[in-house]
Amino acid sequence: MIDSRTIPTFRLNGGAPIPCIGMGTFGSDRVSPEEVAGAVAGGIRAGWRLFDCAACYGNEDKIGQVFKAAFDEGVVKRRDLFIMSKVWNDMHRDVEKAAMKTIKDLQCDYLDMLFIHWPFPNYHAPFCDVDSRNPDSKPFSVNEFVDTYRQIESLVHLGLVRHIGISNMTIPKLEAVLGKLRVPPAACESELHPCFQQQELFDYLNAKGILPIGYMPLGSPRRPERDILPEDIADMEQPELVEIAKAHNCHPAIICLKWAIQRGQLPIPFSVHNYEANLAAAVSEPLTDAEMATIATLERGNRLVKGQVFLWPGANDWHDLWDEDGRIVDCTDC
Ligand SMILES: NC(=O)c1ccc[n+]([C@@H]2O[C@H](COP(=O)([O-])OP(=O)(O)OC[C@H]3O[C@@H](n4cnc5c(N)ncnc54)[C@H](OP(=O)(O)O)[C@@H]3O)[C@@H](O)[C@H]2O)c1
Repeated sequence: MIDSRTIPTFRLNGGAPIPCIGMGTFGSDRVSPEEVAGAVAGGIRAGWRLFDCAACYGNEDKIGQVFKAAFDEGVVKRRDLFIMSKVWNDMHRDVEKAAMKTIKDLQCDYLDMLFIHWPFPNYHAPFCDVDSRNPDSKPFSVNEFVDTYRQIESLVHLGLVRHIGISNMTIPKLEAVLGKLRVPPAACESELHPCFQQQELFDYLNAKGILPIGYMPLGSPRRPERDILPEDIADMEQPELVEIAKAHNCHPAIICLKWAIQRGQLPIPFSVHNYEANLAAAVSEPLTDAEMATIATLERGNRLVKGQVFLWPGANDWHDLWDEDGRIVDCTDC
């Protein structure tokens, strides 16, 4: 067990502290809600204080039972935890209802951060395959995004949400919306791991005072089948990472986490078997400048979540989701 008071913190743009590492709770299509909740229960007792939840992970009710038991047993108080969740794509027009369900399921009274999970309302069913398409899917709309965001701003004023997060954004989309938001976003959740560092987005977020949160920080070795392509690279098998891990006498996963924290992004690793070691990564010996420099060279453009299932009719392929040539593809009102 690690004394949670020794875990370093980042500061959000309003000044509030946030633990420098959080536990992911997406069981993928492979780990049951009960097992994820078991990891959260063990995680709280091991010293984890930040939990990255989402309505679409299908396990918030089970995790809520764990939170309630921890509060009732006096293991932690509500204010000791930083609980994050996300509005799923089918609830962009009814955010309050979605947030109330999440708060009820998680049994947590309020959310420390609520994210817009994806910037467009394109729903896909859980466990769908990679070729699945929803004919109602639409390209990005500035007005619709801002309207969804405004609904979370109202929840901030009601005290139900403390901070607002955005996720799966691009610089062109951020440029289009940031000036229209009244409560600035505190954090942006993006795919970030050694072989997919998104340096430009990372720098942009920092310049705007938005904390980068890195999902799939280990390269998500057990991600859903729909997100696995033959050309994908296994971050943790990169020889340089393996070498650095040997020098620190630990698993390459721990090196990925140390690199993330030292770079200035908050990693949210998922684990049912290794969460104690992962938390220890935040408080054990840091990487040297030379090791950090070596990992900086591992960028391979290795995007793992392509997002094909969110494509709208008429879109070319998954590259259209990521605005790679600097403009928002097919935007209806930019
Ligand atoms: N905003 C978004 O759109 C979005 C998208 C994807 C993910 N996320 C969030 O990001 C979180 C993390 O992503 P992820 O779960 O896909 O990938 P990840 O954290 O990169 O990888 C998790 C996998 O790594 C293994 N692992 C963890 N620690 C390890 C260690 N010390 N040694 C060896 N293996 C280890 C885990 O296995 P064991 O369980 O056996 O340890 C698990 O299979 C999710 O849970 C979710 O909360 C957000």
